[in-house]
Amino acid sequence: AKITFITSDNETITLEGTSGSVMALAVDNGIKGIDGDCGGVCSCATCHVHVLPEHVAKTGEASEIETDMLELDDDADKFSRLCCQLEISEALDGVVLRVAK
Ligand code: FES
Repeated sequence: AKITFITSDNETITLEGTSGSVMALAVDNGIKGIDGDCGGVCSCATCHVHVLPEHVAKTGEASEIETDMLELDDDADKFSRLCCQLEISEALDGVVLRVAK
C-alpha cells in the first residue's frame, strides 16, 4: 500500500509498505516527527498523525486505548491516530497522514 506523510516542514513523502505498522514504516524511513518511542504499544503518542478527513474511511476509528492516550495530547483532534496502531494493508492504499507537531 502507498502511504503518504506530510511532515511539519510541509514535506510530502510517499512510502510503499506491505506489512507491519505504519509507525515502523515511518521510523525505518526516517520520517521526521514519528519517533515510535514505546515500540508500538500505544503508550507514548510519539507516532501521532492526523488522517486527512477524506481518508478516515481507510483507517477506521481509533480504539479506546488509543483515544485515551490521545486525550493527553493538546494537538489531538477527531482525525488523530497513533500510527503504531495502523496495520499496513491494501485498505490503507493512498492514505495521507499529516504528522502531528
Ligand atoms: Fe508509542 Fe505509537 S509508538 S504510541
